[in-house]
Amino acid sequence: MALKTDILFELLKNDDYISGQNLAEKFGKSRAAVWKAVKNLIKDGYDIDALTNRGYRLTENNNRISAESIKAHMKNDIDVFYFPSVDSTNNSCKHMLADGKSGVFLVTADQQTAGRGRQGKSFYSPPMTGVYFSLVIRPHTVLQNAVTATTAAAVAVCRAIESTTDKRPKIKWVNDVYLDGKKICGILTEAVGNFEDGTVDSVIIGIGINIKTDQFPDSAGLAGSLDANVSRSRLIAAVTDELLAIAGNDYSSFIDYYRSRSMVIGERIKFIQNARVTPAKAIAIDEHGGLEVELEDGSHTVLRSGEISIRKM
Ligand code: BTN
Repeated sequence: MALKTDILFELLKNDDYISGQNLAEKFGKSRAAVWKAVKNLIKDGYDIDALTNRGYRLTENNNRISAESIKAHMKNDIDVFYFPSVDSTNNSCKHMLADGKSGVFLVTADQQTAGRGRQGKSFYSPPMTGVYFSLVIRPHTVLQNAVTATTAAAVAVCRAIESTTDKRPKIKWVNDVYLDGKKICGILTEAVGNFEDGTVDSVIIGIGINIKTDQFPDSAGLAGSLDANVSRSRLIAAVTDELLAIAGNDYSSFIDYYRSRSMVIGERIKFIQNARVTPAKAIAIDEHGGLEVELEDGSHTVLRSGEISIRKM
């Protein structure tokens, strides 16, 4: 790796100052070479404090996303691609898969010009104020088993938010993440299959988290922001690590956590099935992530997919 990248990784990992002498020794270079590399980082747009007797430190203004900064925070060693602007990171993944890209990989962008949500909705993705990324995993399984990724993704987002901020989000079935009654994260999972043998080659898990977005279009509904001082690269890395730890697992390894964060149990809800809006009460989350509901006639049924809304009292 170039000295500049080595130094950037080191600065990203440390909140405090690191002396030029330390960096020079660590990478076997002169202090002059370290200073030259730091000047190049500043030229690239990184905001670095350089103090005599203390050394170098990235300032709080560095909430820029880059593949390097994500990798510096991530435990897993996977390919990471950053683009300043794309239509949709899920689309980018599809194109890359069609071009033969192999393995597990992540695509992120500062903004999406046509971010996609579930059921043909759009996902508002302005620059600098949120994170928009898609992780491609290879489940090597039938579609039925690959859908665990949908539930696992909500668990991964909540765990990552809890470990990087002081916020305690909730999950609205299936996998919307809420904070203080507003949706702060949407997840769109798409499978790329092998129709010959019914298995799933790849699953694209697209995640958008609003961090500091304060104005939303009407189409975004009841949307809100995490409103935490968290490095965007760190949050992307944390969600990815959490997701890779559970994505191929059976529900049993994370369903208790999912239940504990659910905001729908005990609530009066409505769901749409066969173009009919049905009122019900949410009773429980079953062992496959299904939502058990009680209908108005007292009978019970389990919802396996679809959208619900919580009815106001
Ligand atoms: C929803 O709430 O309806 C799902 C929203 C999913 C948004 C993410 S942002 C990254 C990825 N790229 C997209 O176009 N959509 C997902």
